[in-house]
Amino acid sequence: MSKCFNLCGHRGILLCGLLACLVLAGCYPKRVGVSGPDGKKMTWVEMSLEQRKTHMKTEVLPRAAAIFISWRPERFTEVDCSLCHGRRAQTGNFEMPTDHLPRLSGDAFLGPEFQKHPQTTRLKLKRLVPEISSALGVKKFSIITKKGFGCYSCHLGPDGPVFGN
Ligand code: HEC
Ligand code: HEC
Repeated sequence: MSKCFNLCGHRGILLCGLLACLVLAGCYPKRVGVSGPDGKKMTWVEMSLEQRKTHMKTEVLPRAAAIFISWRPERFTEVDCSLCHGRRAQTGNFEMPTDHLPRLSGDAFLGPEFQKHPQTTRLKLKRLVPEISSALGVKKFSIITKKGFGCYSCHLGPDGPVFGN
């Protein structure tokens, strides 16, 4: 009893929080950016627009380019911001999700997507979503909470953004 209190009381609370973090396989959002004024690396949410652009250029674009180019080299010879953001990127509009990309069904289990586009769907699920969510330091989409970074962080649903995007 007292042992448990010692572990979880007072300073222990901090330790317990830390342990909970480790047990739950990491806390989000993660510090993935350049250092902020307090000397700590910034999370995606904390970054300014300029810092986000830089982060996209140094972290997101190279990883996405590697995936798309290795997947279909004949089609994706060169990849830039417009791959995801479309032509509006040129005018500084980086709003996501975007109708530049095809709208998806809105089915959380991706039934129609697996049926019509099995290859793309597998690639996205196995490589693109994990890679980009880790580049942004944000949690991946969870089928239980129906939240997090996933297909609908880039694609719209039939009538607009879905799953809190
Ligand atoms: C692989 C797809 C992909 C590519 C390529 C990409 N982006 Fe993004 N970008 C995203 C996604 C997804 C978001 C939304 C992230 C979020 O907030 O969940 C985003 C968000 C942004 C934002 C933040 C917009 C806001 O309202 O805060 C900026 C700025 C941005 N991108 C700039 C760029 C630039 C500049 C490039 C090229 C160097 C680029 N992006 C390339 C997917 C991409
Ligand atoms: C980081 C942004 C991003 C995420 C996340 C994403 N996609 Fe995409 N998706 C794209 C881009 C970019 C294209 C267009 C590529 C192209 O020009 O063919 C695309 C195209 C597609 C297409 C059309 C393929 C075709 O051949 O017409 C389907 C279907 C699709 N995505 C499904 C998904 C599914 C399912 C998920 C989630 C498992 C997902 N996407 C997640 C960026 C994304």
